[in-house]
Amino acid sequence: MSESGEALTTPDRGDTPAAPASTPSVPIGRQFGSEGAPQGDEASPQNSIFRVEDLNVFYGGFHAVKGVSMDIEQNEITALIGPSGCGKSTVLRCFNRMNDLIEIARVEGTIEYHGTNLYDSEVDPVEVRRRIGMVFQKPNPFPKSIYDNIAFGPKISGFKGNMDELVEESLIRAALWDEVKDKLEDSAYALSGGQQQRLCIARAIATSPDVVLMDEPCSALDPIATLRIEELMHELKSDYTIVIVTHNMQQAARVSERTAFFNVHLGETGQRTGELIEFSKTDLLFTRPREQATEDYITGRFG
Ligand SMILES: Nc1ncnc2c1ncn2[C@@H]1O[C@H](COP(=O)(O)OP(=O)(O)OP(=O)(O)O)[C@@H](O)[C@H]1O
Ligand SMILES: [Mg+2]
Repeated sequence: MSESGEALTTPDRGDTPAAPASTPSVPIGRQFGSEGAPQGDEASPQNSIFRVEDLNVFYGGFHAVKGVSMDIEQNEITALIGPSGCGKSTVLRCFNRMNDLIEIARVEGTIEYHGTNLYDSEVDPVEVRRRIGMVFQKPNPFPKSIYDNIAFGPKISGFKGNMDELVEESLIRAALWDEVKDKLEDSAYALSGGQQQRLCIARAIATSPDVVLMDEPCSALDPIATLRIEELMHELKSDYTIVIVTHNMQQAARVSERTAFFNVHLGETGQRTGELIEFSKTDLLFTRPREQATEDYITGRFG
C-alpha cells in the first residue's frame, strides 16, 4: 500500500515494497474526503483512491469514451460492466496509463490517484504501472519458469530483498503455492489456464502494487477456476484496490462493492461512443437501477 509522501516519479525500489522518493516530486499520499460529485448518488466517496473527472478517450479521430466521472474507493472491488465496445477496457487502461502504449490513443480529462494527476508530465508511467498492476483476459505468463515469472518484475525494479521469500509469499497470496511449490523451475506454460491466471495475479502483486486492474480475468476459465479467482479477489481487497471489467453480471454482483454500467451512445452519424450511465453500490444497481438502460441491460432486455 502506498505511504504518504511517496512519489510516482520514483523509477526504482529498494528491498521494501516501495522505496521512498529520492527526489521530491509529486506526492501521492493525499487522501480525499467526501467532497466531489461522482455520477450516481449512491456512490458517494468515503476514501477514494482514484478520482476521474470528465474523462474522454479518442483513438485517432474516433471518440471512444465520453465524459466519464467516477471515484474509485480504496480497498474495494469496483466492477465495470456494459455491452461490447462501450469502452470498459479503454477506461480500465486509463487507470495505469496503458493507453500510452497505443499510439493513436489520446486521453483528456483528469484522473487523480491519491490526489496526483496521473497524466501530469512529471509522472513516470513505468512507476504508475508498478503501483497499478494489470491482469488481462487471457493469461499471459512470460515464457519462463514459474519462479522467474514472479521474480522478473521485482528484479527489474531493483528489489534487493530475499527473492525466494517474495516468490513464495506472492504465490501463497495468489492461492497457487501448494500447487506449484515442487515445480518452481518448470515452465509457466505447463500450468493449466486457471493456474496461469493465478500466476499472473501473483506476478502482478509481487511488485507490491497498490491497485490491481483486471480485464475479464475469468473469461477464459471454467467455473471452478473462476470461483477460485473470485475468492482470491475477496482476500486481496484488504490490501489492494481492485477494478475489474467483467461480462458476467453474476460475477459483478458476487465480487464487487460498486458497479459502473457503461453503454454505447449512438450518434446521429452512427458514431458509437461509450458513456457511463450509472455508478452505484452493486446491490442497488442490480436491484434498483435508476436508469432504464441499466435495467434493460441487467435483465437481458438489451439491444
Ligand atoms: N487500440 C485501439 N485502436 C482503435 N480503436 C480502439 C482501440 N481499442 C479500442 N478501440 C475502440 O474503442 C471502443 C471501445 O473499445 P473497448 O475495447 O474499450 O470496449 P470494451 O467495452 O472493453 O469491449 P469488450 O467488452 O468487447 O471488450 C470500440 O469501439 C473499439 O473498437
Ligand atoms: Mg474489453
